Amino acid sequence: MENKVILTGDRPTGRLHIGHYFGSLINRVKLQNEYETYVEIADVQALTDNFNNPEKVRKNVRQVVLDYLSVGIDPSKATIFIQSLIPEIAELTVFYSNLVTIARLERNPTVKTEIAQKKELFGESVTYGFLGYPVSQAADITAFGASLIPVGEDQLPLIEQCREIVRKFNNIYGDVLIEPEAFLSSSKRVKGLDGNDKMGKSLGNAIYLSDSEEEITKKVMSAVTDPNRITKDTKGNPEVCMVAYYHNLFTGKDEYEKVLEECRNGERGCVACKKELSSNIIEFLRPMREKRRYYEERPEEVDRILIEGTEKARIKAKETMQKVKKAMKLDYYL
Ligand code: TRP
Repeated sequence: MENKVILTGDRPTGRLHIGHYFGSLINRVKLQNEYETYVEIADVQALTDNFNNPEKVRKNVRQVVLDYLSVGIDPSKATIFIQSLIPEIAELTVFYSNLVTIARLERNPTVKTEIAQKKELFGESVTYGFLGYPVSQAADITAFGASLIPVGEDQLPLIEQCREIVRKFNNIYGDVLIEPEAFLSSSKRVKGLDGNDKMGKSLGNAIYLSDSEEEITKKVMSAVTDPNRITKDTKGNPEVCMVAYYHNLFTGKDEYEKVLEECRNGERGCVACKKELSSNIIEFLRPMREKRRYYEERPEEVDRILIEGTEKARIKAKETMQKVKKAMKLDYYL
């Protein structure tokens, strides 16, 4: 097998939830056994729309590492690092910024949607940094020679933009950068407790990997169910019920079939159904909560993982930088 490098990352703007778990974390835990894996905590990218809240980013760097470790991203297999500690990424961003037009950035559908959602922060005119974060993400990817990027659908325009930058760079300066491919996660997006298509922190409809048993129970009790079900005997429609939807993720196949049938026949009350679900979610997340507690009680061990991961990542980024500078005729003296 070719020695492929994969790279993924998250903006540290909040704790990770079950949407992240089924959408990407589960995949990373598998892939780390087969590929040279880098996992980036994208604090610089997080600042592009949180520049006025550095505390939030700082605090969540810690939360995200704990999330990674708790789900089984294994620092002996995957290199976990902090973006801002790799200055080569910032340098590459500057070099690549010549290879992208403003018009092209403004056309990026993901960036476009995000800008529309952030009117309150940006007002009439978006910052240079936010508009340009796809360039910085191209630097994240290429600094490590990553060829496969496991992402959700929303990230495809960013990978496409990275590919264009790589082609342009290689055309002008010579064949140095690796053109990455997106590796679409087969699992689909997890809906929110309120039935929203997306589970998200800002939407207040998420179950976090680090939620306590009480929080999980409380959230499941608030989940949206079939509004036409007045009493237990009313025949239900599990298609429009978030509890049934989550049973599909957390409850064994046979038991899930039973949930659907009993709901449709009016043989199962919503409260009992929710209790069963929350207890299944609690059990599912228990090993993660325990692993998290282990690391929470050993902050120096977490520091060491980050320091060693970042050192390892830096070596790789420096190798790329040397080749890039040589190709760009910037290889003076040193
Ligand atoms: N933009 C990604 C997100 O919002 C996070 C990210 C930063 C990333 N750098 C990356 C993802 C490099 C893949 C590769 O989720």
